[in-house]
Amino acid sequence: MRDFIEKLPKAELHVHLEGTLEPELSFELARKNGVDMPYATPQELVAAYDFHDLPSFLTIYYAGMGVLIEEDDFYRLTWDYLAKAASQNIVYVELFFDPQGHTVRGVAFDTVIRGIRRAQEDASEKLGIESKLVMCFLRDMSAQSAMDHLELAKPYLAWLIGVGLDSDEKNNPPSKFAEVFAQARSLGLKLTMHCDVNQDNTLMHIGQVLDDIGVDRIDHGINSLESDALCEKIKAKGLGLTVCPVSNRFVVQSLTSKEIREMLSRQMCVTINSDDPAYFRAYLNENYFELQEEGDFSADEIVKLVENGFTASWLRDDEKSAYIDKVKAAATIGATA
Ligand code: ADE
Ligand code: ZN
Repeated sequence: MRDFIEKLPKAELHVHLEGTLEPELSFELARKNGVDMPYATPQELVAAYDFHDLPSFLTIYYAGMGVLIEEDDFYRLTWDYLAKAASQNIVYVELFFDPQGHTVRGVAFDTVIRGIRRAQEDASEKLGIESKLVMCFLRDMSAQSAMDHLELAKPYLAWLIGVGLDSDEKNNPPSKFAEVFAQARSLGLKLTMHCDVNQDNTLMHIGQVLDDIGVDRIDHGINSLESDALCEKIKAKGLGLTVCPVSNRFVVQSLTSKEIREMLSRQMCVTINSDDPAYFRAYLNENYFELQEEGDFSADEIVKLVENGFTASWLRDDEKSAYIDKVKAAATIGATA
């Protein structure tokens, strides 16, 4: 099964660029930029990763960003992730980034996005991996700050495919950002929002992303299974859900294989993703491997999950079909090998 999964061409739709910062690169950039590290070695840093819920993860995640200062740092971060993704046979990525995590530290928006974009172009040319950029707003910051960052992004609209909403969900409902998301929509951007696992008022938040915001996709959204009405609505709208098995395990001590299978059986467009792979120590293939083992998924189920990654993407329909044909061809070869 591992070999079969490795060989399938895959899409990744839920990965935070800043969550791909490997400890070795942190140390290298800290040395270059003269940033003090609170640990002596990358191994000690990893040993201090202690996540049990979203806030405990976010504290470590934001502290980690402090080494990213120059345009070349954002280039290197993006290049390293895309090279790793290409090595896992990921052929298409919709990549989240958190500009507010950088502008609050005095790093210019232009520095961030230019470094990322240059690496995306180089990776397309040299590695053959295609990627698009999704600008996320931090939901524990103000709606005004989100609006200000949408303004900063206006010269770069051609480099963005959509906007997202991440960070701490507690007391930060989707409706807080209705205006900025309506603006983003009017600029031609796609919309997605995190509905993290087991958050307070989760069903209300999922209802809001569907009815008040009108998202084009939902990040996580596992708790929708608690409501037949929400599931029906998600299915009727044809919305993809970007589920992150290893990330979920830090919160619910399971890879949510049962929930993923239930989504498949309800014909909801569930996809598999890595979220923050450098922190959770699992890139996309490892998410598939572990999920397959926990849920004993068949080859056909794995292929369906991989196809869903393209179906739920923001590619054109003809591009989706071309990728899905490649998945089917690789699956046929894999099944007979
Ligand atoms: N930012 C980075 N990873 C995140 C996650 N899993 N949930 C919310 N915000 C995030
Ligand atoms: Zn996420």
